Amino acid sequence: MASIGNIIFGSMIILIFVMSGFIILLLAIAFSGGQGFLRATNRSPVGNLRQDVVLDCSFSPKQDSQGRSGDVSVTWKKVGLTGVVYRYQNRAPDLVDQNPTFKDRTQLFPNALASGNASLLLQRVREQDQGVYQCIVSAPSGKGSINIHLWVAAYSAPKFKQVGTNLTAEAQRWFPKPNAAWADHTGRALNSSTQFFNNSAGIFRVMSTLLEPAHRDETYTLVISNHLVIAISEATLTGDSDVPVRTDFTFNTASPRLLTSCLAPTLLSFCLLLT
Ligand SMILES: *[C@@H]1O[C@H](CO)[C@@H](O)[C@H](O)[C@H]1NC(C)=O
Ligand SMILES: *[C@@H]1O[C@H](CO)[C@@H](O)[C@H](O)[C@H]1NC(C)=O
Ligand SMILES: *[C@@H]1O[C@H](CO)[C@@H](O)[C@H](O)[C@H]1NC(C)=O
Ligand SMILES: *[C@@H]1O[C@H](CO)[C@@H](O)[C@H](O)[C@H]1NC(C)=O
Repeated sequence: MASIGNIIFGSMIILIFVMSGFIILLLAIAFSGGQGFLRATNRSPVGNLRQDVVLDCSFSPKQDSQGRSGDVSVTWKKVGLTGVVYRYQNRAPDLVDQNPTFKDRTQLFPNALASGNASLLLQRVREQDQGVYQCIVSAPSGKGSINIHLWVAAYSAPKFKQVGTNLTAEAQRWFPKPNAAWADHTGRALNSSTQFFNNSAGIFRVMSTLLEPAHRDETYTLVISNHLVIAISEATLTGDSDVPVRTDFTFNTASPRLLTSCLAPTLLSFCLLLT
């Protein structure tokens, strides 16, 4: 009959095997293909509708003794779309084959190319821009391609207004339609009523009113969120009608990003602690 000690010992051995397998798997993924040559700090950015977004992509340049980096060609494509999003080769943009969707909306940072920055600036983001983009780089120092998943949303920080004991918050641009929830400084949920006004192009203006009396010196938290963006706003009432607010945005594309971070060997041990 196995004693408790034996069972614990056995479980530890199994755990160690599982962990080693996991490390080997991560290393295998990290060092396969062109993954090592190209990097992106954010593999799943969230673009804010009608604003600009940068799709990250960088590589290790090799410079000769004069500090030149040689000919670099960079092609950005979007999965499922014909033509290119942007192409740069022979030291100039080559847009003959550019998909019309991206006409006059894309560029690289040509001055940063020599230092290994192949990031794409996408201007005036549209809903249809959402999808998987490929950054393909060919340089004297190596070749590779990397996928970036762009998500599209609309988000803006709310403004708070206090009239008597009534507290209202209004945010101008949200998409997809978000939820709004209030809490006091202890985290207790507060009753509220939220209205949505559909602006042109389906972007929502959000107006949320606290249904309980708001007190001076209390700190109120409003969370506006949809499946992509979480905006946490905090305001301490001072008695002024214009309430100073601090808003932090976080993006809920966390699982692919965590995986990407885990592929960086330096973060490996941290990721293992998380698992
Ligand atoms: C590339 O350069 C642009 C413009 O300077 C900058 O916004 C972006 O963060 C850079 N990307 C990387 C990965 O360094
Ligand atoms: C506060 O809101 C209530 C309900 O909407 C309204 O009846 C009242 O007039 C408001 N008070 C002030 C000072 O605006
Ligand atoms: C929230 O407000 C609604 C409508 O005014 C009311 O029916 C409900 O009881 C309130 N809930 C709480 C927890 O105060
Ligand atoms: C919002 O308005 C746009 C155009 O004004 C319309 O096409 C869209 O269906 C509306 N969306 C909702 C959820 O009401």
